[in-house]
Amino acid sequence: MNFRRTVLAFVLSAAATVTIADTVSLQVEADKSGPKIDRHLFGQFAEHLGRGIYEGIWVGPDSSIPNTRGIRNDVAAALREIRVPNVRWPGGCFADEYHWRNGIGPADERPATLNPNWGGVIEPNTFGTHEFMDFVKQIGAEAYISVNVGSGTAQEAADWFEYMTTPQPTALAKVRAANGHPEPFGISFLGIGNENWGCGGSMTPDYYVSQLKIFARYTRNYNEKHPMKKIAVGPDGGDTSYTEAVMKAWKERTWAWDIDGISLHYYTVGGWPPKYAATGFGEREYATLLKETLRMEELIQTHGAIMDKYDPEKKIALVVDEWGAWLAPTPGSKEGFLEQQNSQRDALIAALNINTFARHADRVRMANIAQMVNVLQAMILTQQEKMLLTPTYHVFHMYVPFQDATFVPVAFDAGRYVHGDIELPRLDAIAAKGADGKLWLALVNVDPNRAVTLDIAAPAKRAKGRTLTAPRFDSVNTFDAPSVVSPKPIEARAKGGKIALQLAPHSVTVVALE
Ligand code: AHR
Repeated sequence: MNFRRTVLAFVLSAAATVTIADTVSLQVEADKSGPKIDRHLFGQFAEHLGRGIYEGIWVGPDSSIPNTRGIRNDVAAALREIRVPNVRWPGGCFADEYHWRNGIGPADERPATLNPNWGGVIEPNTFGTHEFMDFVKQIGAEAYISVNVGSGTAQEAADWFEYMTTPQPTALAKVRAANGHPEPFGISFLGIGNENWGCGGSMTPDYYVSQLKIFARYTRNYNEKHPMKKIAVGPDGGDTSYTEAVMKAWKERTWAWDIDGISLHYYTVGGWPPKYAATGFGEREYATLLKETLRMEELIQTHGAIMDKYDPEKKIALVVDEWGAWLAPTPGSKEGFLEQQNSQRDALIAALNINTFARHADRVRMANIAQMVNVLQAMILTQQEKMLLTPTYHVFHMYVPFQDATFVPVAFDAGRYVHGDIELPRLDAIAAKGADGKLWLALVNVDPNRAVTLDIAAPAKRAKGRTLTAPRFDSVNTFDAPSVVSPKPIEARAKGGKIALQLAPHSVTVVALE
């Protein structure tokens, strides 16, 4: 036997195997189409928690930080860029302790109250209803307001919505006018409580349903020019008891009440209390949290099956109004402020979840990542007058063409990424026909060690867009180095009817097929 030839053959066959494994064919079924990917899937969540509102959004009109009526100009401008469709406010757990009357009227007359959920700090109430509505207007978003079911009354919630929405000259509307807004506000979404199975009062499913019927009846939208949807509290992760109870009640509802959606909360956390580091982690932690995040698929299927049983026409939306990575807090940050850095791993977490929502766009029609600024998986971090955009922000920016796009099926072999006993699909992809008429592809290479060459079969001459890569999967942007993780242009031209596009390890890529 010729030893050299044998070795060479082995090397060549090994190389060939690697090459084959690293090339994936992807077929865009451009002649087929699925549901609309609702732009509200890209919603945000801003709670009175830590430095999320105060410092992150609101600095007050007298601040030396450039602002418009107290709202930071830099943050508002960055949020306009990602076309935030809606903002959920004021919580979270905070919502079930919030009393809206504390947050209206002259700022210096508003009472200081407490925020027992989040660090026990003073809530100055300087950011209230009018400031929130000004904020969403400044960033071009719609309002999603959660009312206090846990410690408030149906009367208080009803009054708040009369105050905000009636065009008639009621006593509450006159107070609104005296506070600077004679025209009624337009509220797009009403959340009836928050996690009433937990921080919102530990209610049994049946008890919550009895509250839901009352609040859904009396919390009215009086602004006929601006329709509003009502969203009930739904499941906590995999627990199906609220899903069953709320959907059954909805199926048996009378004329006196109705809802348009139920909410699902699921965090990528890897066990409570959150212990996974936001920076300086290894491949095991990388793979573990990506696996955790992919549980979203199973949860949507589980709750979706129950919803299908009561609502086969899919009238009720599954609203994932809290999702994202919940990691160990930044060392030195205040307890209860839920501050964490945001790495390239978070970018993949964001993209994998958005892709999952898009694949279920017929049922999942709204979602809100937690949270917008300085809290959990944030878009933006601030430090006094400084601001940085996180890897997650860049994903939301790159995915803008998917807002209100029409889902287009893709066929590909996802392959496997294996680390120890953890096994994940190596590639994830979705396609959609954008409102701009273009065909868009969003691609995630989960493998942190190997690039993938995608052989795209599609009616196009080239793929052109942006890719988000990073030196390491735990790379972050800091105030001193804010562009370590930022999108770069990517382009590939068709040859022989195929477009070969290189996807870097642990990357997110969005391209138009032109
Ligand atoms: O997003 C932080 C908290 O997580 C919210 O206040 C609560 O609803 C959830 O448990």
